[in-house]
Amino acid sequence: MRILVIGGGGREHALAWKAAQSPRVECVYVAPGNAGTACETRCENIPVGAADIPNLLAFAREHHIDLTLVGPEAPLAEGIADAFAAAGLACFGPSRAAARIEASKAYAKRFCERHGIPSARARCFTDPAAARAALLRWKLPVVIKADGLAAGKGVVIAETREQALATADAMLSGQAFGAAGREIVVEDHLPGDEVSYIVLAHGKTYLCLATSQDHKRVGDGDTGPNTGGMGAYSPAPLITSTLAQRIEAEIIQPTLAGLAAEGITYSGFLYAGIMVGPRGTPRVLEFNCRLGDPETQPLLMRLDSDLIELVTALLHGNLEDTAVTWKPQAAVGVVLASAGYPGDYKKGRAITGLETPLPEGVKIFHAGTTLQGGKVLTAGGRVLCVTALGKDIATARNKAYAGLQPIHFDGIQYRHDIAHRALNEKPG
Ligand code: AMP
Ligand code: GLY
Repeated sequence: MRILVIGGGGREHALAWKAAQSPRVECVYVAPGNAGTACETRCENIPVGAADIPNLLAFAREHHIDLTLVGPEAPLAEGIADAFAAAGLACFGPSRAAARIEASKAYAKRFCERHGIPSARARCFTDPAAARAALLRWKLPVVIKADGLAAGKGVVIAETREQALATADAMLSGQAFGAAGREIVVEDHLPGDEVSYIVLAHGKTYLCLATSQDHKRVGDGDTGPNTGGMGAYSPAPLITSTLAQRIEAEIIQPTLAGLAAEGITYSGFLYAGIMVGPRGTPRVLEFNCRLGDPETQPLLMRLDSDLIELVTALLHGNLEDTAVTWKPQAAVGVVLASAGYPGDYKKGRAITGLETPLPEGVKIFHAGTTLQGGKVLTAGGRVLCVTALGKDIATARNKAYAGLQPIHFDGIQYRHDIAHRALNEKPG
């Protein structure tokens, strides 16, 4: 099979690497990819951006692509899956209508309310005066979310009344996120522990991936601003099998059934960001219409099954002989980021130490990197994700940190406490 992976981050490097291991796969094209995918066996980068749907479609046609895997949300929200389906090409990713579950937080909230899916109590606003009136009485802290895609920055947890009012004003006026903030969701702040639950879905049929947990804040001890994710591990011991059953019964199944009842066949990865409350109740914080980054890196290191076989069986509705199997080991991934991320950062810094031989079970997934004259340079906020397998989380964590020691670039920053929650250690 000929595979096309769309995107150029750490998630897409892991997807391409895993797809290329399938005995069914002849080659994996990555659009646009990064320095990591450029050097991966049986992988080839193509110079087409992840948002350039017409050229992606033309490439897939010309090169007889058998299956396309879409990494990021933006092309899905723009309808890439619809365009490929219309051209008769297999694309694993939700349609534009289905991707609204991530692309519009107000839609996702109303959807949860319509189908009795547990999430925080909320109201949606477009009118600044109505939002102000509600925020003057809302219990603090209060969570304010821009409706549209805002590169992971559209959620503010306001601790004070002034911050809440100023946030709502900045979003609704268009000043903060342009059109993405013209509607806001105001919701109760939920206490608890956050986990990621990701499934591969096709209609109401789904296969669960292993559990994982991300680290959203930039700094040690879960401090500083939210990022796309600074590290992840799998499995997440917080999710017992009883809790996993509840998540499936109370969140995943009603979500897929609710979409189907509204005429939407969801096909692709579905990611539920879940807050597990102090009494163990799971509630949806957000849905993503794609795999998580960096959760994908440790998840795919642990996945024993052939990913392409799983997706193909799911799309063809023949799952009878298909089981998702996992390596018994745990995996931990630590993101190496550029100084300044998630704010402004410099690009084009030389990365050294990548040629150092890695111990067995350690893999460096590239994210914001580029090859120039044989040198690997930084090209993004999140640059690399050093991921390791180990007999348990502590061993995997120690191997990941040992694996990143030789790597250097100007302004390198990373968290020193990835997986602290799984290890019951004090963060920081
Ligand atoms: P979202 O993009 O909706 O997941 O929000 C980004 C982050 O904000 C989440 O990963 C949580 O850490 C936090 N968050 C969102 N909604 C809530 C909530 N209702 N209560 C507490 N934290 C929240
Ligand atoms: N790591 C969280 C996300 O991909 O949205």
